[in-house]
Amino acid sequence: MKLGIIGSGKIVDELLSFIHELDDIQCIHISGTLRSQDKLKRLVQEHKFKHYSTNYDDLLNDHEVEVIYIAVPNHLHYEFAKKALEHHKHVIIEKPMTSNYQEAKELKDLAVKNQLFIFEAITNQYLSQYTYIKNHLHDLGDIKLVSLQFCQYSSRYDEFMKGHILPVFDYKKSGGALMDLQVYHIHFIVGLFGEPIDIQYYPHIEQHIDTSGVFILHYPHFQCICMAAKDKQTPSFNIIQGTKGSLCIESPVSLIQEVKLIKNDGTSDIIYAGHQHVMYEEWQSFIKICQNHDLKQCYKMLEQSLIVNRILTSARQKAGIIFPADHIL
Ligand SMILES: NC(=O)c1ccc[n+]([C@@H]2O[C@H](COP(=O)([O-])OP(=O)(O)OC[C@H]3O[C@@H](n4cnc5c(N)ncnc54)[C@H](OP(=O)(O)O)[C@@H]3O)[C@@H](O)[C@H]2O)c1
Repeated sequence: MKLGIIGSGKIVDELLSFIHELDDIQCIHISGTLRSQDKLKRLVQEHKFKHYSTNYDDLLNDHEVEVIYIAVPNHLHYEFAKKALEHHKHVIIEKPMTSNYQEAKELKDLAVKNQLFIFEAITNQYLSQYTYIKNHLHDLGDIKLVSLQFCQYSSRYDEFMKGHILPVFDYKKSGGALMDLQVYHIHFIVGLFGEPIDIQYYPHIEQHIDTSGVFILHYPHFQCICMAAKDKQTPSFNIIQGTKGSLCIESPVSLIQEVKLIKNDGTSDIIYAGHQHVMYEEWQSFIKICQNHDLKQCYKMLEQSLIVNRILTSARQKAGIIFPADHIL
């Protein structure tokens, strides 16, 4: 896979910290803003990119690049992905896929029309620990309640309170706790149980954005309650409870570091994450799916991203959180 990257922030640092451990991927081109030129130069040196640019068109027109990884603030995902698809590049977009469902649907239609790969980079869907959970759901009997928590005080919240609003807290840039953290919960639940029959979001709003909130997904025979916060910190404790036992995860469901299966008969089983970076397995999957030209698998994952995006959009609208990008709805 010959990779181009747009963006040079925190998540790009994460990817580049382990990319050398992956087979069959070459760093070709990294593009960003003029503001970040010094960082781009450093990344080119350290990770042996062939080129860097401060103009996205240069990346789009680099014929060697096959796949573009979109790692810019949320409100830019749609525009940058659309241009990439129009230039016949495959696309990996950081989560959340787009600002709203309409944008996600347009990207999907464009990718399908041109038979291109498009992935939402959402870690938990590709983790072996998640597969373990899927395979052991039947051990729990009838599911009665799911409760998830991802409350992580953000260093960017301090800046926000001082009036310096960074993208993750900016409603104009499609930020907020729903888009940043609850997206992991919703993928986690939809991947296990499918689309809910109803949803409700109860946000805590400051300066037009949800800094925390409670999300409820209703299924015919049980409810899922998800708490997420960027304005306070608590240890994560996630549990899926059924008539015959429970599955417990004591880390945010973006990581799923450890899964404990506890049955009513007193037996238990425990699995731990491997030593790799949490993004390793998703990138390994992207490479494999592309190498096998497995568009069917890619579009299956994409279908879930669309369901999640529809849920996010509907929840925001019901809660009165409107982004500028929603004007097209
Ligand atoms: N950080 C995480 O742990 C994490 C985890 C999972 C997913 N993500 C997702 O990854 C994406 C990026 O997050 P991040 O944390 O890496 O943000 P970040 O640290 O703020 O980085 C954003 C990058 O985008 C660049 N950028 C902004 N506007 C641009 C433009 N018009 N053209 C080209 N580049 C532009 C920024 O350049 P300047 O700095 O020069 O503005 C910066 O390099 C978000 O969608 C987020 O949800 C982040």
